Amino acid sequence: MARPTVVLAYSGGLDTSVAIRWLQENRDVDVIALAVDVGQGVDDLDAIRQRGLDCGAVESHVVDAREEFAREFVVPALRANALYMGKYPLVSALSRPLIVKHLVRVARERGASGVAHGCTGKGNDQVRFEVGTMTLGPELETLAPIRDWGLTRDAAIDWARERDIPIPIKAKSSPYSIDENAWGRTAECGILEDPWAAPPEDVYERTVAVADAPDAPEELVLRFVAGVPVALDGTELPLHDLLREVDARAGRHGVGRIDMIEDRLVGIKSREIYEVPGAITLITAHRDLEDLTLEKELAEFKRTVEARYAQLVYNGQWWGPLKRALDAFVADASRAVNGEVRVRLFKGHATVVGRRSEDSALYDLSLATYDTGDLFDQSLAEGFVQLYGLPLRTWAATAQKRGEGL
Ligand code: ARG
Repeated sequence: MARPTVVLAYSGGLDTSVAIRWLQENRDVDVIALAVDVGQGVDDLDAIRQRGLDCGAVESHVVDAREEFAREFVVPALRANALYMGKYPLVSALSRPLIVKHLVRVARERGASGVAHGCTGKGNDQVRFEVGTMTLGPELETLAPIRDWGLTRDAAIDWARERDIPIPIKAKSSPYSIDENAWGRTAECGILEDPWAAPPEDVYERTVAVADAPDAPEELVLRFVAGVPVALDGTELPLHDLLREVDARAGRHGVGRIDMIEDRLVGIKSREIYEVPGAITLITAHRDLEDLTLEKELAEFKRTVEARYAQLVYNGQWWGPLKRALDAFVADASRAVNGEVRVRLFKGHATVVGRRSEDSALYDLSLATYDTGDLFDQSLAEGFVQLYGLPLRTWAATAQKRGEGL
C-alpha cells in the first residue's frame, strides 16, 4: 500500500525545507509542498515551488491568493477595526486561516491523510493552523515536525547537509523571525527578546525612521463603499494593489511602527515589532468614516464587538461560529460606511484631516452649527437636561440627608 501523504504549508525557508525530508524519514509520509502567496513580497514563487521538489516533495504547488487574502481576510478585519490588545492588526493571524483553507482543499483533492506546518510549540501560529484544520477538515490529522523535532537552526543546517538537501541559506540571513503579508510585517527573536533594548534600525523594511521621513506632508484620499476601500486618490484599484500602494506611501512617512509586549494564547508574554503602515492608515481612515456615518447606538455597540473580534481571530477561531456571526453583524453595520477620507501622512503619523459622505453622513450642519442657519431647537434641551439629571438629583438629595459628603 502506498504510504500516506500530507500537505505541508511550505514557505521555502530553512525549517519547512528540512521538514519535508524529516516527515518522510520520521513519520513515514510523502509530502506535498504548498506555498501560498498572501502578498509577502517574494518575487520568485516558481523558485520556491522548485525548491519544494528539490527538497523531496512528491508534488509542489504555489497558490496566488493575494486578492483572496485582501478581499476575504483583510476586509472583514478592517471593517471590524480589528486590533489585538488595541494595537496589533493581526497580520499573521489573518493569513493562517487562509493557508489552512488551501491546505485542506489540496489535502482533499489529493486524498491526503492530513496537513503539516512548520511552527514551533511556543507561538500562536500552531494553534491557528491546527484549530483551523480541525474546523475546516475535522477528518484530517495535523503533523508539526518542527515542534516535534525541536531543533536549532545550526542543527537543522547540519542535518540537511548530511543528506544533501538543497536548503536555502541566504548570504546574510535575518537575525529575526519574520512573517509578512499584504497587511504588514512581523519581527521577533534575537536582540528583540530584550524588552528594554530599543529595536535596531535593521529590523525595519517597510517603514522609514521618523527622523528620515520627508519634511513635507503628503495627503491621500481613500474612498470606501460599505466599509471596503475601493479607490485611492480617485482611482479605483483592485484591493490588493490598493493595500500595497497605501502601505508603501505611509511607510515612506514612517507610519505604522509598533513595539509591544504581547500576550500570546499559550500564556507567554513576548516582545513584538510590527510594521503596518497600510493597516494603520486604513483603520484610522475607516474608523473616522464610521464616526461620520454610524448611528450612535450602533457605533457604541460595534466598538465592544471589535475587541472580541480581534481576540477571536488572534486566538485562531477564524472559522468558528462566533467569528462568523460577528462577521454578519459587522457586515450589516457597514452598509452605510460610504464616503471619502483625507489622510495626511507626516512624520510617523496618519492623521485624518477631512471626511465626507454623499449618501450616508449623519453630520448635519444645520444641527451642529453655532452660526446662522441653526435648526436645532435649543428650548428642547432644557427639559432634556432636567430629565437626564433627575436620577442624580434624587440620589444626591437622599445622600445629603444621610450626611454623606460628596
Ligand atoms: N505574534 C504575532 C502573532 O501571533 C506574529 C507571529 C509571527 N509568526 C511567525 N512565525 N514569525 O500573530
